[in-house]
Amino acid sequence: MKTPKRLQPLVDEGLIDEVIRPLMSGKEADVYIVRCGDDVRCAKIYKEADKRSFKKAVEYREGRKGRNSRRTRAMEKGSNYGRQEQEQAWQNAEVDALFRLANAGVRVPTPYGCFDGVLLMELITDEAGYVAPRLNDVSLTAEMATAHHALVMKDVQRMLCAGLIHGDLSEFNVLLDHTGPVIIDLPQAVDAAANNNAKRMLLRDVNNMTQYYGQFSPALLTSKYAQEMWLKFESGDLLPDTVLTGQFVESEHSADIESVLAEIQAAFEEEQERKARIQAETEDEF
Ligand SMILES: Nc1ncnc2c1ncn2[C@@H]1O[C@H](COP(=O)(O)OP(=O)(O)OP(=O)(O)O)[C@@H](O)[C@H]1O
Ligand SMILES: [Mg+2]
Repeated sequence: MKTPKRLQPLVDEGLIDEVIRPLMSGKEADVYIVRCGDDVRCAKIYKEADKRSFKKAVEYREGRKGRNSRRTRAMEKGSNYGRQEQEQAWQNAEVDALFRLANAGVRVPTPYGCFDGVLLMELITDEAGYVAPRLNDVSLTAEMATAHHALVMKDVQRMLCAGLIHGDLSEFNVLLDHTGPVIIDLPQAVDAAANNNAKRMLLRDVNNMTQYYGQFSPALLTSKYAQEMWLKFESGDLLPDTVLTGQFVESEHSADIESVLAEIQAAFEEEQERKARIQAETEDEF
């Protein structure tokens, strides 16, 4: 096919030999099947920021570090240079996450790099060599659902040990190849230790996957892997090979009345400060 404009620089550089066909046009990217030498690969072209529909970028970005302080300051100021930097940081976040996760033994597409806003990665296929389906397009036996749920929980655990939470994990961002589930779509991956929304996102990711597999194997629906993982992660006891049970006893922790009261007090003080600030600001206006 005719080479799309955004892929031309990669063809010129010899990174891509031929563009075979478009695969999918998503909300944040257009995905193509390409040939690189003897390999068939996948090229994900990120859309420009103004064409993306990702609403809560700020929530996800929290805790990400710019590589130098000038960059971080520019990003915070939202200057033109800052916007370009932010765009690059967004595009690099996915390839960085893929390298980190592949290293940590998480089943993700093997990354080959990100060039001019195009991510080159392994094309995930089924046994016959056709592009692998997304989980939302397949139905599973109860045995398979139970086994695959365990694989995904293990991958989420490995991710957390590598310091990352997917942040948008669901049956729409997991493919099924002949070995099992393959996690994709990571530009919004969040820093588990630095992001205040980390726990909430982990709970949501795990809940999405448990609900999905639970349709085929209802016994999974009562498992509580996210809570168990987070507790161990916070206390520094989570390792990739830590054996999890999926059980979590809420009462042990909610019985800690002192820390609950301390949290209520802190929230109260924060609210007082906020009110005082608003009042000071309105007074300033007059
Ligand atoms: N490595 C891959 N191998 C095979 N198919 C892929 C691969 N990466 C992406 N796809 C296909 O392209 C689709 C879009 O990719 P991805 O989810 O990464 O982009 P997106 O723009 O964020 O999509 P969306 O907004 O729809 O989630 C996937 O749902 C999947 O069908
Ligand atoms: Mg997606």
